[in-house]
Amino acid sequence: MQSENPAVAKPTPIFLATRNRHKTREIQEMLGSGVLVTDATTVPELPEIEETGTTFEANSRLKAEGISRHVPGIVLADDSGLEVDALSKEPGVYSARYAGPGCTDEQNTALVLEKTVGVLHTERTARFRCVLAVAENGVTLATFDGTVEGILATEVRGAGGFGYDPIFMPLGYSETFGELSSEVKHGMSHRSRALAQFKQWWAARQ
Ligand code: IMP
Repeated sequence: MQSENPAVAKPTPIFLATRNRHKTREIQEMLGSGVLVTDATTVPELPEIEETGTTFEANSRLKAEGISRHVPGIVLADDSGLEVDALSKEPGVYSARYAGPGCTDEQNTALVLEKTVGVLHTERTARFRCVLAVAENGVTLATFDGTVEGILATEVRGAGGFGYDPIFMPLGYSETFGELSSEVKHGMSHRSRALAQFKQWWAARQ
């Protein structure tokens, strides 16, 4: 029989209001082994929260509040996306469904590239934005935001990351997030910047 080693602390559980396994994986990697991130894929009966907001903050609050009514403890939600200046900040809050309902990351990426054909390098400025909301019992306790500025590539490059990563070069790099390692991405990403603030808030609360 295996005895429990008291020197090995149990990871602190945290619930992430998403069915996007890429977000869960990234947040788990960034929070480290002291935290165990579970998400809505493990609780199929949770309701689908409609993202009716027009801002990242509104949608992250909707998801955190909606799911925290069904899950005990604090719930974290991430609303994020890509803003392309040459497209008047599209796809923005519609990033996940830019090419239509049920579309794939590849279709979204292809649509952004198609709509920016002929846009000069100097005009290809873009950014990823992320707002994290933390809620308990249907009430938002805090929100945190993070941004990473960059340039839109003209073709898909790299197989790492997810979503629009293969067409986004963070400022100072000629590689896309799809080509850069996850360590490099996590060192500067919109999500890691928002998560750093959440970690401070959480530590102060323990
Ligand atoms: P949400 O689930 O409504 O927040 O939509 C998020 C969408 O934004 C994702 O499905 C991706 O298309 C895009 N997105 C958010 N964060 C990232 C990222 O770190 N890399 C690439 N695409 C991202």
